[in-house]
Amino acid sequence: MVAVFFWSRTTPERRRQFYALHPPRSRYRYNPVMTHKLTSLGILLSGRGSNMQAIVRACESGELPATVAIVVSNRIDAAGVAWTRERGIECRVLPHRDYEGRDAHDRAIVDELREAGVEWVCLAGYMRLLSPVFVTAFHNRILNIHPSLLPSFPGLDAQAQAHGHGVRWTGCTVHLVDTELDHGPIVEQTAVPVLSGDTVEDLEHRILLEEHPTYVRALKQLLQRRWTLQGRRLIWLD
Ligand code: GRF
Repeated sequence: MVAVFFWSRTTPERRRQFYALHPPRSRYRYNPVMTHKLTSLGILLSGRGSNMQAIVRACESGELPATVAIVVSNRIDAAGVAWTRERGIECRVLPHRDYEGRDAHDRAIVDELREAGVEWVCLAGYMRLLSPVFVTAFHNRILNIHPSLLPSFPGLDAQAQAHGHGVRWTGCTVHLVDTELDHGPIVEQTAVPVLSGDTVEDLEHRILLEEHPTYVRALKQLLQRRWTLQGRRLIWLD
């Protein structure tokens, strides 16, 4: 009541000063997506880059509360590099053969990522094992996608391995990265059926269609939810 009395006696100039200091919290002034700080992502790739594209698009649409600060490739001829550059996204090519060993190469990539302010690293078809140098630099902040339901069929040609084994179901897995191949804690998995007439290419295609939304979903949850690790189990806390 007292506040209403004083408010009615203020001059327009004082009201302007008050609103300048205390802007109204209306939905017209604040975009809920933009009120949160965007997480800076670094994406590493060696080839086609379709998972990288899915992440870039999800950032651009606001589906992911993140921005792609830099893309790094170890191969200049990677199709993903051309796409990134056409799009005007910061991109560095660091061929591993230019470095004396894995540690030196990884250290150079870590330097690039740090310089770009990267907080999370997404491996998207990056065909190199990460050294402890890299994994320690971004401890539990590195994700990978693998085209099988891990721990089945780690390593190269996972789709062909599943096809050849005759499994009825395979899929894709997004996991945190440690120094072992396709091994860290699992964040998200999507199952994909193997049909009896499938060629390996059919299966690759069906899995890839699921990889893109699975990667975005995993990343979104990690960025927006509270989580912890119990051993190698990732537990959601909310
Ligand atoms: C995907 O199948 C991914 O699961 C695996 O490498 C492939 C990369 O494809 N790690 P793309 O370059 O993202 O199109």
